[in-house]
Amino acid sequence: MLVLGIETSCDETGVAFYHSECGLLAHALYTQAALHAEYGGVVPELASRDHIRRVLPLTRGILKQARCALTDLDAVAYTEGPGLAGALLVGASVAHGLAYALGVPALGIHHLEGHLLSPLMGKPAPQFAFIALLVSGGHSQLMRVAGVGDYELLGETLDDAAGEAFDKTAQLLGLGYPGGPQIAELAARGHPGRIKLPRPMLHSGDLDFSFSGLKTAVLTQIKGRDLDAQVRADIAAEFQAAIVEVLVAKSLAALEDTGLQQLVVAGGVGANRELRSRLTRSAGRRGFEVFYPAPEFCTDNGAMIAFAAALRLTHASRLSPLASRSFSVRPRWDLGTLRPISA
Ligand code: KG4
Ligand code: ZN
Repeated sequence: MLVLGIETSCDETGVAFYHSECGLLAHALYTQAALHAEYGGVVPELASRDHIRRVLPLTRGILKQARCALTDLDAVAYTEGPGLAGALLVGASVAHGLAYALGVPALGIHHLEGHLLSPLMGKPAPQFAFIALLVSGGHSQLMRVAGVGDYELLGETLDDAAGEAFDKTAQLLGLGYPGGPQIAELAARGHPGRIKLPRPMLHSGDLDFSFSGLKTAVLTQIKGRDLDAQVRADIAAEFQAAIVEVLVAKSLAALEDTGLQQLVVAGGVGANRELRSRLTRSAGRRGFEVFYPAPEFCTDNGAMIAFAAALRLTHASRLSPLASRSFSVRPRWDLGTLRPISA
């Protein structure tokens, strides 16, 4: 079964062809980071307009790469939500238009489901059930994943997401958008512990997070201080260490509480090297296994959408209906409302 996946939920246009037997045939990504950089964050209207410009040329490109024709497609998948309404509508319209013309199903995929199933594309792949740490620009959640569509929320952020905290702190340090990779780069030249920041909710006894206070603590440290290159690097290193320490501790607590052995890390912050090395080391010491998507599939991409759709289509007992002329998107969509697919 061959699926085209289209991701347009925020500021990346991603397209991919995933074949249920042969795997990923081709994928392409266009990031709008430079377009939004001067505003310090994503401007929704600019994002929608740019998705319109990119999505078809990118799709034509991967058709060539994969050496296949649109008529080979068995389904077209797209991110139905959550995300920016206008941006989501671009992917949904293109997917439904194509699917309708080809007489194949159009399948709306939950963006976070795409993220948390993405490590299953790798080898070795984790086995259900596992814990997923989902850390993106909009979400920080710990989920128990028992199967496709079978997700139980164990804990989540009460305020800012981990990626959002990286982005806001980057702005305070005079870095550009998106902040995560830039803080990570700056942190490599700094020393954690020289400037002290809190570890929010480290000992809260539950699996929830809170990251907005960390940004305020950075602001307090910055005030009245001479922000030379070394101080900025030390703040970046301590900030990264604080987030990583909390994420590692809560992920291990989730494994211990549930008795599960495998942890999957997904979402943009999952690309963070310090997080990966600390998590792998601490989990390994306790006999747990950690799985990560390839770094290019940590941040938003079309491959995870095509892959999640291929999993759903190959496991579902009922065939998805063919594309119709009406469709909608879900800018707000709780992952916990998804239901397990019936095999
Ligand atoms: O999953 P994603 O691409 O988009 C959303 O669904 O939100 O995540 C984007 C977030 C941004 O906040 C970005 O700063 C963060 O992931 N990020 C990182 C790194 N790479 C991306 N944060 C920390 N370290 C990184 N290396
Ligand atoms: Zn994402």
